[in-house]
Amino acid sequence: MKGIILAGGHGLRLYPQTLAISKQIIPIFDKPMIYYPLSVLMMAGIRDILVISSPEHIDLYRRLFGDGSALGMRFDYAVQPAPEGVAQAFLIGESFIGNDPCALIFGDNFFYGSSLPELVERAALHRDGGLVFACYVKEPERYGVVEFDERQRAVNIEEKPRHPRSNYAVTGMYFYDNEVVSIAKTLRPSGRGELEITDVNNIYLRRGMLKVERFDEGIVWMDTGTPESLLEASNFVQAVEHRQGLKIGCVEEIAYRKDFIDRDQVLRTGNLVKDNPYCEYLRRLCGTDSPGGPAE
Ligand code: G1P
Repeated sequence: MKGIILAGGHGLRLYPQTLAISKQIIPIFDKPMIYYPLSVLMMAGIRDILVISSPEHIDLYRRLFGDGSALGMRFDYAVQPAPEGVAQAFLIGESFIGNDPCALIFGDNFFYGSSLPELVERAALHRDGGLVFACYVKEPERYGVVEFDERQRAVNIEEKPRHPRSNYAVTGMYFYDNEVVSIAKTLRPSGRGELEITDVNNIYLRRGMLKVERFDEGIVWMDTGTPESLLEASNFVQAVEHRQGLKIGCVEEIAYRKDFIDRDQVLRTGNLVKDNPYCEYLRRLCGTDSPGGPAE
């Protein structure tokens, strides 16, 4: 399965933080925001990643991840000339996707929970149709909202409805079979001028090919597009990391546990900076008294 991370957009709600840098590079506590969604794709076992960003920012991501070999992965990069919708990712990424199924995640979405690794591993095995996740939120009108029938089956998804039919928002993480490319080609821009991911999902839904899986309360989902939500996410990561001594979204650790890289490669990154807690963590991970125990 291939993975696309969308790191475009103007980040206007974060202005002036985003005046000179890309939103998805801004740190959530101790690492760039994009590390968190990347780590989710890695948990799913995905090693081929396409980062899509704006023409002025794409090189930042090239600098951050290079060809991906330090993580035992392959990274490609593509430009979205203007923010014309999430579903455009499948047109831009057509040759990258090839004949494979594809996952898409937003570079500003944060997911956390003990059941998450297993959940996304399973999602990556889902090969027929699409699979999206729905999360109970207080303000569903900001999102794509799932409507359920009396038997609790998803029957429709409405983008930013004025009168939401439920509190279940579709999160920014999607798994599709290869059909998604041809579906994306049939889309027309919505009222807000975008190729909507909700239209893709509704096409799958009408065909009886969309699985909508609800998150249980143990899974945290945040989008980090406003100053408040950014700070909340940072505080959350800081609190959990401080309490447990374990890192969230540490991509080298996940690459190690997934067997994408070996201990020597973790140490190479861990040895990059001497006095730095992140590098120290990687070095500890390689020792016998590593924080989470040695990787299996
Ligand atoms: C997009 C999708 C929406 C989804 C949301 C998740 O909204 O269109 O369906 O619920 O992401 O973050 P946008 O970020 O374009 O407002």
